[in-house]
Amino acid sequence: MTNTPFDPESLQAILSDAQARAAAASDVASLGALKGELLGKKSTLNGLKKQLGGLEPDQRKAVGQQMNETKSAIEAVLAEREAELSATERASQLEAERLDLTELRDEIKRGHYHLITQSRDRLEDVFVGMGFQVAEGPEVETAWYNFEALNIPDWHPARGSFDTIFVNLGEEEEVMLRSHTSPVQIRTMENQEPPIYIIAPGRTFRSDVADATHLPAFNQIEGLVIDKGITMGDLSGTIDAFVKAFFGHEVKTRLRPSYFPFTEPSAEFDISRADGSWLELGGCGMVHPNVLRNCGIDPEEWQGFAFGFGIDRLAVMRYELDDIRELVNNDVRFLGQF
Ligand code: PHE
Repeated sequence: MTNTPFDPESLQAILSDAQARAAAASDVASLGALKGELLGKKSTLNGLKKQLGGLEPDQRKAVGQQMNETKSAIEAVLAEREAELSATERASQLEAERLDLTELRDEIKRGHYHLITQSRDRLEDVFVGMGFQVAEGPEVETAWYNFEALNIPDWHPARGSFDTIFVNLGEEEEVMLRSHTSPVQIRTMENQEPPIYIIAPGRTFRSDVADATHLPAFNQIEGLVIDKGITMGDLSGTIDAFVKAFFGHEVKTRLRPSYFPFTEPSAEFDISRADGSWLELGGCGMVHPNVLRNCGIDPEEWQGFAFGFGIDRLAVMRYELDDIRELVNNDVRFLGQF
């Protein structure tokens, strides 16, 4: 036994040292090691116990009590720090192991209508807004609907200008892919009493080789009005109203004399461009009396006008495409832009 006199100050020093080191411990494991150092067999506190034997019996009791209190105080400090450390450790473990069960769903990639369909829909909207109804007809037609009823008899040179694709059915050159949507005006007049206000959008065919401005299968929209007292002024005003609604109010229109067998007089209609030049959009005219008669309508009682133009070409103009073939290449990288 050593006889070093007991210094009560040393207990205070042990406690402050324990507090400082517990506060400095950064995790539960190092706190465990510290606990061994502070309270274990080789601890300073334990060393002091050995000095108790050298004290007077009554002093021994008091010092022994102080030592136990110090020990409890150290245990409390350690317990408190352990609670702190294990709480932070648990929190960071939870954070690290966190499973995010929320599902992040990509916005659904919706497609959109093809340029031609968009153009056709817009055209229909504008004309329906002007009081027209939408009429449709078959894509395969007979010579009567595609030509004869439209005042183009088989000897007529105008037949040649239509580059017709014939279907090998029935008599020679009797069945064909329609080369314009004008057959729909015949079908409408056959089936419907005037007044008639229709537009006929649809696919049309000509034996053209595809190039930057032509497609062998393309789309037209035809307008037909049959009513009493209809004049060329109504035709011109209708085209102008449509063009302004579709292209904008700054766009002007003009008619140039032309020829179609099914209209008399006939005209081409042009629209003005920003640079002052004119662009041909389509054909039009007053419905030829022969056409009215072919459909059982009395030309003395009823008059009308018709007009027609290409929807694809309109899309080319509207979307400023370089090549009309882009419309049918079906490249989504191209189509996705519009
Ligand atoms: N059907 C003519 C064409 O395809 C266009 C047109 C329609 C012209 C109506 C006049 C009247 O070329």
